[in-house]
Amino acid sequence: MAAGRKVLIGGGTGFIGRHLGELLLANGYNFTNVTRMPGANNISWSQLEVAGLPRKTYAVVNCAGQQFMDFTKSWTPGFKQNVQNSRVFTTKALAKAINNSQDKPKVYVLVTGVGAYEPSDSNKYDESSPSTGIDFFSRLVVEWERAAYVDPPVRLVIIRSGAVLGRWGGMIKNMFLPFFLGVGGRIGSGKQYLPWIHINDLIRLILFAIENDNVQGVLNGVAPHVITNEEFTRSFARALHRPAVIPVPEAMLDFLLHPERAMIMTRGQHVIPKRVIEYGFKYQYDDIDKACQEVAHLLPRKHPLN
Ligand SMILES: NC(=O)c1ccc[n+]([C@@H]2O[C@H](COP(=O)([O-])OP(=O)(O)OC[C@H]3O[C@@H](n4cnc5c(N)ncnc54)[C@H](OP(=O)(O)O)[C@@H]3O)[C@@H](O)[C@H]2O)c1
Repeated sequence: MAAGRKVLIGGGTGFIGRHLGELLLANGYNFTNVTRMPGANNISWSQLEVAGLPRKTYAVVNCAGQQFMDFTKSWTPGFKQNVQNSRVFTTKALAKAINNSQDKPKVYVLVTGVGAYEPSDSNKYDESSPSTGIDFFSRLVVEWERAAYVDPPVRLVIIRSGAVLGRWGGMIKNMFLPFFLGVGGRIGSGKQYLPWIHINDLIRLILFAIENDNVQGVLNGVAPHVITNEEFTRSFARALHRPAVIPVPEAMLDFLLHPERAMIMTRGQHVIPKRVIEYGFKYQYDDIDKACQEVAHLLPRKHPLN
């Protein structure tokens, strides 16, 4: 019974964190955010450091991290450091609070990314694949996940998420307007893989990790339907009843965003959620057309949580 169980969410004010908070409340949990913002339901990172975990914390989840697809910010060494530190330091701060607590939570869930795997048109990755990449994001994920180490018996679950599809955040929020105006299109050749997961399934997977004592280690937080950028483009445009015939040249993204950051869109990975399926997790959105239908609406709509 979840009644009144407390969950501490690092970055709980963000896109994933807010949806997770709603799902937790709907399932009888309470939650507190660790954030840089003051608020009734919030504690700060320095409060966490000084006072440790709130009493009787049942689970800890980290969804904090400076958005790297913030197009208002140039890809400078300072910004890259912020992208890195906001993930590694928050992850370490929560791990340290867990390790120092007398009254240990059951589980620590960290959301990282499929950037752990080297972009490739031919490799297939499941959770046993090594993160061998030498690009910025692969190296970041290695350090980020290492920062999460917690002493047993606390279970550590690391969810390597694909692009999270939800109307009000992440990739869809950025792409909605051009696609709605009928000027969207594939990126580059469109042949690069696009690992994805619907927001509802990602937060349900986090809850699944909290509630199932046998779940631990790395999980690929992606839908089982493997698609390319071109397949996504067609599906999203169809769901909006718009054409999507104007491709975005790779060189333009490289120029505007910096090639190191643009690769998140211009390259991709074939990622399989092998362990997620073995654990028996049931997806609500296992097909890209179904997911695109749900996110293709102009006006706010109550999010279907259950
Ligand atoms: N969205 C996706 O498609 C996706 C895919 C794969 C992985 N992820 C990962 O999942 C995590 C959450 O993603 P999201 O889409 O929910 O991001 P988001 O909406 O940008 O929220 C991230 C949260 O991180 C906190 N944050 C931002 N900059 C920070 C900093 N410098 N120091 C400490 N905290 C900071 C913010 O909380 P406060 O402002 O309240 O402090 C914010 O609410 C990120 O680490 C991201 O890399 C996301």
